[in-house]
Amino acid sequence: MSTTVIKNGTIVTADLTYKADVMIEGGVITAIGPNLVGDKSLDATGCYVMPGGIDPHTHLEMPFMGTYSTDDFESGTRAALAGGTTMVIDFALPAPGQSLLEALTMWDNKSTRAHCDYSFHMAITWWGEQVFNEMETVVKEKGITTFKHFMAYKGALMVDDDEMYSSFSRVGELGGIAMVHAENGDVVAQLQQKLLAEGNNGPEAHAYSRPAEVEGEATNRAIMIADMAGTPLYVVHTSCEQSHEAIRRARQKGMRVWGEPLIQHLTLDESEYANPDWDHAARRVMSPPFRNKMHQDSLWAGLSAGSLQVVATDHCAFSTEQKRYGVGDFTKIPNGTGGLEDRMPMLWTYGVATGRLTMNEFVAVTSTNIAKILNTYPKKGAVLVGADADLVVWDPEKSKTISAKTQQSAIDYNVFEGKQVKGLPRYTLTRGRVAIDDGEVKPQEGHGEFVARKPVTATNKALSTWKEVSSPRKVERKGIPATGV
Ligand code: URP
Ligand code: ZN
Ligand code: ZN
Ligand code: ZN
Repeated sequence: MSTTVIKNGTIVTADLTYKADVMIEGGVITAIGPNLVGDKSLDATGCYVMPGGIDPHTHLEMPFMGTYSTDDFESGTRAALAGGTTMVIDFALPAPGQSLLEALTMWDNKSTRAHCDYSFHMAITWWGEQVFNEMETVVKEKGITTFKHFMAYKGALMVDDDEMYSSFSRVGELGGIAMVHAENGDVVAQLQQKLLAEGNNGPEAHAYSRPAEVEGEATNRAIMIADMAGTPLYVVHTSCEQSHEAIRRARQKGMRVWGEPLIQHLTLDESEYANPDWDHAARRVMSPPFRNKMHQDSLWAGLSAGSLQVVATDHCAFSTEQKRYGVGDFTKIPNGTGGLEDRMPMLWTYGVATGRLTMNEFVAVTSTNIAKILNTYPKKGAVLVGADADLVVWDPEKSKTISAKTQQSAIDYNVFEGKQVKGLPRYTLTRGRVAIDDGEVKPQEGHGEFVARKPVTATNKALSTWKEVSSPRKVERKGIPATGV
């Protein structure tokens, strides 16, 4: 087998920065050290060699709001690699009443074209004995340990509190992680109808119908239910201070809760919805919506303070034509935005270059933290001997202006259009294969492999032990009085 050496770079991991070469053979890292010599070499002079990004929140070819998101596993993972991301985790979404295993087969079929490795979360969109039983197979035989619950999208994907409590309890028993899209779907549905009745039918009304308090309430509720049910909880697309505050407080109480801001919420704000161009505003319709600077500052602070752990994209890209399904009725605009290609360069430019994040924190929040949470570390998220050679050789001097004209995504616009980014991949390697080669995109359809994950992490064990230790105990009494009468 031939060997490749990444030479003259500086390795940056979640906790170390040091100069060393990296040798790769058979898709894994086989040596790290000075002056390594291989059959081929990649020059990393002036660059940082980091674990490839992991985006734990994508919706590729997602059936949603009467259509399918336009980026599929082909264009989506190509975009990922172009931006330094080497693994995506998508959501298998059973239709209400559908078998979880049947849904998984559908997602297996969609993912055969992936250019990089991937895994799935399973969504719980309904509840019953079949779901209860199939969850065990999903965890033990299919390698999927994370279960997503939508607290919004009433009448479609939403589940209510007793369904969530039942499902969370099952997740806890199986040693998995519960995930939530936290918004109060009942209130959102009522606000939508009120706004429409008042003639407020443009894309800006999407944001009016989903205030931060609505997200904060749902986050608090999910945290309480997870605590009662005894499962760790991962809150996806945390977009506001109210939700961050709930997560921060739960963590300070010792609860096992994680929060995931998106690059869109960190860098784009609510003023986008006031744009006089309907298309401009509709293209930015996603849930939760973009918010103001106070919320953005809270999310950035959470990343450096450690109260928020992961930056994702929720990549769910709809074309302008698809967005126009909602002309005259904002509730019909397909919810979702892209970001896979832009997450790492945007976070570097707005995070590391501004001093909000260190380089090591950048690696932690784009890769290592989620690899640990999802129990795929150090196969992923690490620069270590034996780890997969999912690597990005990051050139801090390389710059570009983001534009739909040059992007990999299949849609006709980019929500970051015109943003100048400095810090881009010189090379992106997926299990040792050079997919981005100094600006040239050389992906290989079908190269991506499914990554199975194991349940019962150290966090699960600690939580279940603590729940057992602190569980209610019957008080044994002598001389109980006879019942009355
Ligand atoms: O608007 C969004 N976020 N669309 C994708 C589905 C979801 O809620 O994550
Ligand atoms: Zn119910
Ligand atoms: Zn969501
Ligand atoms: Zn999502």
